[in-house]
Amino acid sequence: MDSLESQKYKLSEHFQNERKNLGAYPEHLKNALSFKDTEEALKEITKWQGYEPTKLYSLSSLAREIGIHNIYYKDEGTRFNLGSFKALGGAYGVLKFIQNKLKKELSKKISISDIREGKFIELTKKYTVVTATDGNHGRSVAYGANLSGCKCQIYIHAAVSEGRQKAMEEFGAKVIRVAGNYDESLRICIEEANKNNWQIISDTSYEGYTQYPRYIMAGYTILAHEIANQLTEKDLPTHIFLQAGVGGFAAAIMAYFWEKYSEKNIKFIIVEPTLAPCLIESAKANELTVFDIQKETMMAGLSCGEPSLLAWKILDEGTDHFMTITDDRVPDLMRMLAKGKDNDPSIEAGECSVSGLAALIEVKNNDTMVKKLNLNDNSRVLLFGTEGATDPDIYKEIINV
Ligand SMILES: Cc1ncc(COP(=O)(O)O)c(C=O)c1O
Repeated sequence: MDSLESQKYKLSEHFQNERKNLGAYPEHLKNALSFKDTEEALKEITKWQGYEPTKLYSLSSLAREIGIHNIYYKDEGTRFNLGSFKALGGAYGVLKFIQNKLKKELSKKISISDIREGKFIELTKKYTVVTATDGNHGRSVAYGANLSGCKCQIYIHAAVSEGRQKAMEEFGAKVIRVAGNYDESLRICIEEANKNNWQIISDTSYEGYTQYPRYIMAGYTILAHEIANQLTEKDLPTHIFLQAGVGGFAAAIMAYFWEKYSEKNIKFIIVEPTLAPCLIESAKANELTVFDIQKETMMAGLSCGEPSLLAWKILDEGTDHFMTITDDRVPDLMRMLAKGKDNDPSIEAGECSVSGLAALIEVKNNDTMVKKLNLNDNSRVLLFGTEGATDPDIYKEIINV
């Protein structure tokens, strides 16, 4: 088998994390993300027009069939009409950048609501924010630029769909398609930003660049805060499956539940595509590790070869299990959720949204894993529908086959 073929047929993997910290959320991780960040994000984002908590479904028929007590499914398909949870992150990052910039320029703190109301448009229109994206993050950055009245330039790679490109352009962003993969689009984005003095608003962090990714993760924690309000304490999940690209989403949700409910010992399982397993590789190597992606997974938002530095710090200590899933399970599970099992609701779940469910089914089919995770008929599993039909044409094609 050549290297591409062996990538394609690489089987899913599990890795139990011996470094799991069973104590309270540690002080040193509060430097990466904490409740304080959530509180600040909540004060701002809940004021945006159209804000409302997304639905948390109980999929009890599916849970019965799988043999657990319940499945909760947080459906992000309706978030701010942007189709994914990413709406909470990039847009908030852009507004925080504009706020910080105006503070420097005017030597006083300006409220984000004044920025959103266009009171500083003559200044904000001079600034340009840029990012590289697979689609959903760029859409959120374009939305934030639109809210704050600044310019926006987005770099996408060859495999990003036209539907996702159009969604960003609808917010007035200039979208530049680059030959090659995501890493190439990021390289050009950084080069252009440095040349033109533009601000990068990236959802991934690295040495020397953590401020905006931290705001973005803070935005994501709102999802976890909503869930904490949607469930009574006795109904909290026993297991949380978190799909990951660079890991920012997973780390944000983990940090929130860990800090708030550390005594509950909720089990966290990180799920990645077999084609982009940078976190499980990092866990196995016991250090942040870059994976050279050879083939794009159909779960476009999870196609990332390099973990986010801030996220990795949290995931390294908080994860119980890392695992991967193969692309071939995705279409069937999307169709199953669209149909709804017995009395369960019908859910429009995009490609990334079924990864947690695929992992849960895989665990349930493996006696060793069932024991390791202590998954039984008392278990309440939380899954995240991180996107709806973010590209409606691709969604229809998959569902109707
Ligand atoms: C729909 C969807 N789900 C999950 C993720 C993973 O988020 P992260 O890259 O922060 O791990 C992404 C990232 O783009 C996404 O678009």
